[in-house]
This record gives sequence, structure tokens and C-alpha cells, in this order.
Amino acid sequence: MQLSDLSREAMIKVVTEGREGSAMMSFAAVLNRAEIEAVVDYVRDVFIAGDGINTRYHIPANGWEDHQRYAPAFPFATGEIALDTPLEQLTPLQQEGRQLFISACVTCHDRSKVEEEGEWWSPRAVSFPRGGYSNKASSTVALTFERDLDALSSATPFARHEIAPEVAGLTPQQRLGEQIFQANCAFCHGATATGRNWVGSFLQPPPRDLTDAEAMAGMTHQRLTQVITEGLVDTTMPAWRGVLSREEIDAVAAYVMRVFVPRSDRTQ
Ligand code: HEC
Ligand code: HEC
Repeated sequence: MQLSDLSREAMIKVVTEGREGSAMMSFAAVLNRAEIEAVVDYVRDVFIAGDGINTRYHIPANGWEDHQRYAPAFPFATGEIALDTPLEQLTPLQQEGRQLFISACVTCHDRSKVEEEGEWWSPRAVSFPRGGYSNKASSTVALTFERDLDALSSATPFARHEIAPEVAGLTPQQRLGEQIFQANCAFCHGATATGRNWVGSFLQPPPRDLTDAEAMAGMTHQRLTQVITEGLVDTTMPAWRGVLSREEIDAVAAYVMRVFVPRSDRTQ
């Protein structure tokens, strides 16, 4: 029999009654039922989970030297304890395990198990796990469109919205607009102007999807330059009049019109 097959009940029974013919004594006179359960749960969490639950993944070759030291977090990975269990229902060790799970395991194991699938667990981004991650390789972000996303980062659903479309045949004015857009606007709107980039997913209201036919219906060059110049009150859309010159605003509007605003809805 594997240790991990040892049921909780069987363990409680042994601790309560002892095991005949062995040094394992009965603790019935020493510990009450709750205490016996507590000690069994501790042993299960720390030792059995530690030894029993290992996987093809958490091995030293994959960088998981001594995976057992994370044992208090195991029940949260396996779903044995729901992550949203009220803290006061957890033992101090389990609370530690939960903290560990949240800081070191949640990125891969996600929420494992929760009692209540609330807003917290919705697929909308509430945090971004890659500390210090930048989709741009160089610090001269402004004028270059780097494509060397690393393999890990590009696995996120955001990354593909951080790559500017390559458009041939832009006029010099539109090229200038491209540089300005990618340096200033892409931060919120995404390089694809969809707003489905990382930062965009946090903003409320979200950045307008400049490629959306409905949202951009009837958009004109004049309206574009006005919005860019004045910004939009009560949103994060800034007013650019103090930042960009009239020519630069014209250029960025020309680029947005040419590359992003759907053609059929264009009035000019
Ligand atoms: C980089 C991704 C990654 C991270 C981080 C990670 N795990 Fe895992 N874990 C996996 C994968 C993949 C498996 C499944 C492996 C398998 O089936 O062989 C797994 C399986 C497990 C299992 C077995 C689950 C079961 O149902 O049998 C446990 C327990 C576990 N992980 C605990 C942890 C703990 C505790 C941490 C944090 C300290 C952690 N893991 C962090 C990827 C990860
Ligand atoms: C700090 C974030 C942020 C930056 C930077 C930003 N925008 Fe916006 N933008 C927004 C948000 C948010 C909205 C949507 C507001 C709404 O829905 O009411 C928006 C809306 C728009 C709209 C739609 C206006 C309309 O009337 O429909 C256009 C066009 C636009 N932005 C262009 C730009 C351009 C061009 C730049 C760069 C010069 C830029 N934005 C920079 C956040 C930003």
C-alpha cells in the first residue's frame, strides 16, 4: 500500500486505538477527537502529501529540488482545501500553506479549487504575473518595433496585441504617425489598436478598439484630431495638445485612419 492511499479515517482509527503488536499506542486517553483529527491532518499535509504527491513535473531535473518543503501548500494545489476557505477555519500551518500557494504556485496551478467562482476568478486580467516583463526588448521603445518576444511572455493572450502591424506603402506623414502612435498610444490601445493588450485590460472604461467597425462608425479625420487634441473627459484618454504638435496630431490621425479604422465606415 502506498502512503498516499492511507485514508484519513484509517489514520484516525490507528491514532485513537493504537495498533496491536506494535509500539503504536492508543492516544484515546491523551487526546480528544478534535486533537487526534488535527494531528492526523498535520501528518497528512506535511508528510504524506510531501512524499506521496509528487508528480512527473515537480522533480529536481525541472528545478524542483526538495519539492516536499512546499508540502503545506499541497492541499491547495490538489484542491483538497479550497483557496477561498475563510482564514479562521485554517490551522496556522494551513494558513502558511495558503500564503505559499498564492505567492509561488498560483501562477501555474491557478485557483485550483474555490468554493465560490466569484468575480475574482473571472478571466479578466486582475494581475500580471511576470514581474518586470516588457514586451519591448530595447529601451528605445519609442521608435522601434521589436519582435523578439520571449517564448514565455508570448504565451500570454496580451502579447500578440503588442506587435505593430507591418503596413507597406504608408505615406511619409502616415509613417510619422505610426512612430507617434506606437510610442505614445500603443501603451493603452495596444500596438494593434484593439485595446486587448495588457495595460488596456486594466483600464475602465477600456481603451476604444480603434479597429471596431461599430465603435468607429462615422469617424472622420477631424473628429480624430479633435479627440486626440482634447482627450476624453472622465476617461484615461489624455489630451495631447501639450505633448504633440498640430502636425504630429494630424500624422497620428492619418495613420490611425489608414491602418486601423475599418474602411467601409470611413467617411473620408
Ligand atoms: C511552472 C508551473 C508550476 C508551478 C509554479 C507549480 N506547479 Fe505544481 N504542478 C505543475 C504541473 C505541470 C503539475 C502536474 C505534473 C504531473 O502531473 O506530473 C503539477 C502538479 C502538482 C501537484 C500534484 C497535483 C495532484 O493533483 O496530484 C502538487 C501537489 C503540486 N503541483 C504542488 C505545487 C506547489 C505546492 C507549488 C508551489 C510551491 C507548485 N506546485 C508550483 C506545475 C507547476
Ligand atoms: C492612458 C491611456 C490612453 C492613451 C495613452 C491613449 N488613449 Fe486613446 N483612449 C483611451 C481610452 C480609455 C479611450 C476610451 C474612452 C471611452 O470609451 O470613452 C480612448 C479612446 C480613444 C479614441 C476614440 C475616441 C472616440 O471618440 O471614439 C481614439 C480615436 C483614441 N483614443 C486615440 C488615441 C491616440 C491616437 C492616442 C495617442 C496619441 C491615444 N488614444 C492614447 C486611453 C488612452
